[in-house]
Amino acid sequence: MAEIELKHVCKTYENGFEAVKDFNLKIADKEFIIFVGPSGCGKSTTLRMIAGLEDISGGELYIDGVKMNDVSASDRDIAMVFQNYALYPHMSVRKNIAYSLKIRGEKKDVIEQKVQEAAEILGLKEVLDRKPGQLSGGQKQRVAMGRAIVRNPKVFLMDEPLSNLDAKLRGQMRVEIASLHHRLESTFIYVTHDQTEAMTLGTRIVVMKDGVVQQVDTPQNLFRYPANQFVAGFIGTPPMNFMEGVFDYKNQQLAVRTNDGIAIPLTEEKVKHALERADVAGKAVVAGIRPEHLRLLKDGEEETAFISGEVDVYEMLGSEAIVYVKQPGNENRIIAKVDADTHLKPGDRIRLAFDLEKVHVFDKLTGQTITN
Ligand SMILES: Nc1ncnc2c1ncn2[C@@H]1O[C@H](COP(=O)(O)OP(=O)(O)O)[C@@H](O)[C@H]1O
Ligand SMILES: [Mg+2]
Repeated sequence: MAEIELKHVCKTYENGFEAVKDFNLKIADKEFIIFVGPSGCGKSTTLRMIAGLEDISGGELYIDGVKMNDVSASDRDIAMVFQNYALYPHMSVRKNIAYSLKIRGEKKDVIEQKVQEAAEILGLKEVLDRKPGQLSGGQKQRVAMGRAIVRNPKVFLMDEPLSNLDAKLRGQMRVEIASLHHRLESTFIYVTHDQTEAMTLGTRIVVMKDGVVQQVDTPQNLFRYPANQFVAGFIGTPPMNFMEGVFDYKNQQLAVRTNDGIAIPLTEEKVKHALERADVAGKAVVAGIRPEHLRLLKDGEEETAFISGEVDVYEMLGSEAIVYVKQPGNENRIIAKVDADTHLKPGDRIRLAFDLEKVHVFDKLTGQTITN
């Protein structure tokens, strides 16, 4: 059982730099929580404060209702797995995994049993007598996890554990970590800068930027209802397309008129949300549409709102294709996901229609969403 709560937690480093600002989060027992955001946004700092490896400058940290600010790392019943594995090179896999138990003074047969269990779960039985230098990157990462598992901690903390692995192995290990969480039934907090990893692993995701939490939600909700333009652009690949413009409010109808002269009418529900925020007429906004929510129009097909442009790049991915579209007088290319059997080529003139239910609008000044 491990419930973790951070209340107004902040971190100011000795040089005065504020790395984490007013971090508030309640993590339920057995949750798989992800901290995601660009490099330098304060993910590792927050994780290290939870682990007790970094002092908390302000606010409170609770584990199962007990304040932990002044409890030492070794007394927090937390295990941490690092990006660089931190294995002892001169020790065998068996000894690496057993190390913390030995230090703790566990009996030999207890240690051996726990090492065997961990090796079984992680598929390391064949390599227990090897040294780290004789292992692949994926195996090293498993040994690092084995060292955490044998301690049977309340909480697992992982800081970019897969970022030293190649793409294919990363995909495999992702699945293994998900199944590990399922088997161990402990609370996991996992740091990554990779939104795909975040979306596939997390029960909830904390999106951070510049030391500030931007949004905390399930992967589905982050994708569907981003709270601001940063989250909208960070979650999803290829990223959401953004178009600057102004609100045009006439006869109870609200549309975004983009700088490229496209009028995007808003659905009734979006209009309702927008009007709740007052002063819509003439407001400077940014419209957003994801590549998967643009549809290639056939010749002669009519639609109210569409983008027209010229194919710049056509990327075939097998099951689908990504098309990058140039618009006259606009540096930014529009990205769309289209069927794999649309055989487009550079220079083709195409039109892309908006799925109007899926249009987002953000306040240009604050970046906050206006339409959900
Ligand atoms: N010991 C330190 N002293 C001063 N600044 C630091 C220290 N450690 C990290 N930082 C700064 O704090 C910010 C957050 O760092 P970090 O938590 O490691 O980010 P992330 O893990 O999201 O990449 C960065 O700008 C980093 O340079
Ligand atoms: Mg980090």
